[in-house]
Amino acid sequence: MTKPSKNSFQIATLKLIPFVEQVHLAILKEWITTQEELVRFAGPCAFSFPLSDEAWRQFLEIDANNRLSYMATHTQTGDPLGFAQIKTINSHTKRLCRLLIGASANRGQGLGKQLVLALLRICFEDPKTTCVDLNVYDHNVHAIRCYTQCGFKEVLETQPNQTSTMLWKAIRMVRSRENGE
Ligand SMILES: CC(C)(COP(=O)(O)OP(=O)(O)OC[C@H]1O[C@@H](n2cnc3c(N)ncnc32)[C@H](O)[C@@H]1OP(=O)(O)O)[C@@H](O)C(=O)NCCC(=O)NCCS
Repeated sequence: MTKPSKNSFQIATLKLIPFVEQVHLAILKEWITTQEELVRFAGPCAFSFPLSDEAWRQFLEIDANNRLSYMATHTQTGDPLGFAQIKTINSHTKRLCRLLIGASANRGQGLGKQLVLALLRICFEDPKTTCVDLNVYDHNVHAIRCYTQCGFKEVLETQPNQTSTMLWKAIRMVRSRENGE
């Protein structure tokens, strides 16, 4: 199959549906196939490759009370395109976590921006939400570019944030309701 040309994914190519483990876990497992991909996608975690189905379940259920998981699918074909989670931090703040456009051939064509905008729409549907944040490794330039284009701004932290590791430095980005909503 030929790779779609840049921007061949137009607005509203992607929609979010609830993640259903029995249907979607096998797809997510195909997308994340190395420890490095797992850490880039999810930050440091207690799991290492290869993850058993049980480990995947535990991984996805961390903070499950405060976290919703979504599958991104193609609006017309229903094909799976990506994955993401929204975590409630407090009554005013939500966090976008574990964002992924699954097939590497689909990246860099605007789907990530559609994913972020769809997640922001859900976050700001709650009138109490004033701020959405996320953590991203500072070398993940494509992700940072995508988030910046969706209105996120890097915030300078005085303390190293939770997702910093010895090797990879994470930065926190924030998007307020006023900034575009
Ligand atoms: C981060 C991610 C979700 C962004 O989705 P995406 O569909 O690639 O993002 P977009 O195409 O909307 O935006 C990426 C920007 O980087 C540019 N880019 C250039 N080369 C690229 C490449 N090989 N891959 C991705 N983006 C690329 C894009 O052109 C675009 O900028 P532009 O709009 O100015 O052209 C996706 O790349 C991904 O799943 N990466 C692996 C997992 C990951 O890093 N998750 C982030 C965790 S914080």
